[in-house]
Amino acid sequence: GDNVMYLAHRHEIDIEGACEASLACCTCHVILPEEYYEKLPEPEEEEEDMLDLAPFLTATSRLSCQII
Ligand code: FES
Repeated sequence: GDNVMYLAHRHEIDIEGACEASLACCTCHVILPEEYYEKLPEPEEEEEDMLDLAPFLTATSRLSCQII
């Protein structure tokens, strides 16, 4: 799929993705600028649950593999 994590990988931006976008980890955590965060649809509950486990969680945190 064409999520932000894979897009980053194609541009040699090193975001981890331990579970290959299956929402079973939080290693693809990214912190977005507020302007960008607000343009995205709300994260699904499954993403929120995984995000809760991410270190350094912020109000504009997302799992990059879930941003499409
Ligand atoms: Fe595991 Fe994104 S790579 S949730």
